[in-house]
Amino acid sequence: MNDIDKTQEHVTVTINGQQISARATLSVIEALWHTGNARIKGVGCLEGVCGSCRILVRRANRSKVTMELACQTYVEKGMHVIFPPFHPPTLRNYQLTDIKSSQEIESQFQRLFPEVNQCRSCGGCTESCPKGIDVEQGMHLAEKGQFRETGELFIECIMCDMCQTACPEFIDPQYVGLFSRRVTAFFHLQPANLIHRLEQLQQGHLTVIEPTTTALPEQSNGSQKHDVK
Ligand code: SF4
Ligand code: SF4
Ligand code: FES
Repeated sequence: MNDIDKTQEHVTVTINGQQISARATLSVIEALWHTGNARIKGVGCLEGVCGSCRILVRRANRSKVTMELACQTYVEKGMHVIFPPFHPPTLRNYQLTDIKSSQEIESQFQRLFPEVNQCRSCGGCTESCPKGIDVEQGMHLAEKGQFRETGELFIECIMCDMCQTACPEFIDPQYVGLFSRRVTAFFHLQPANLIHRLEQLQQGHLTVIEPTTTALPEQSNGSQKHDVK
C-alpha cells in the first residue's frame, strides 16, 4: 500500500456506544468530530496538557482498559472508547497566606485532606493516570509531610481527574498534588534576591520611583509623536 492509500485507510471504532468508520490517521477526538459531535465538548488544548479529553480505551482482543488522552491516541480497528463524565471535586478553601509558617503546612494539610490517611494502597489511582504518575506514592509522601517530593511527582499532572474517579476512598489526589506544589513554591522556592529586595522595601531601605507620564504634543493629524531612540 502506498502512502496515499494509507491515509485513506478506514477503521471501525466505537465511541460512546456509537460505531463509526474513521480514517486511520485520525486521533480519537478527531474521529469523534467526524461523527458530528460539537468541538466544544471533551476537548481543550489538543496538546496533551489540559486533561479535558481523557478516555477509557479497550483495544480489540484485549480485556484491559487503559486511561488515555483522546487528542494523543490514534483510532485503531475494533477499539472501544468512552469519554467518562467529570465529577465535581470536593471544595477545599484555603489561602496560602493564612498558613503562617512552613511548620503549619502539615496541620493545614490534615485539616484540608483528612481522607488521605484512609488510603488503602490499592493502586487504582496510579493505574488510571494517563500521564504515568505514581499517584499512590504521592499520597504516601504527602501523608508523611513530604510536600516537596509530592509536588515534584505531580509536576506532569494535567488535572484530568481520573485518579479521583478511581479512588474508592474519595481522595482527590490531583488536589493533594496541587496543594503540595503550591506550598513548596510559596514557602521554599521564592528566589533569595527577590525576598531580600522585598525585605529592604518593607524596612524602608529602598525607594520606589513611580514612572512619570508626560503628555506628548499632539501632531497636526491627531496622532501622538513618539521618540524612538
Ligand atoms: S495525577 Fe490524576 S489528575 Fe493528574 S494526570 Fe494523573 S490521573 Fe490525571
Ligand atoms: S486509589 Fe485511593 S485508596 Fe487507592 S492507592 Fe490511590 S489514593 Fe489510595
Ligand atoms: S485536549 Fe487537552 S489533553 Fe487532549
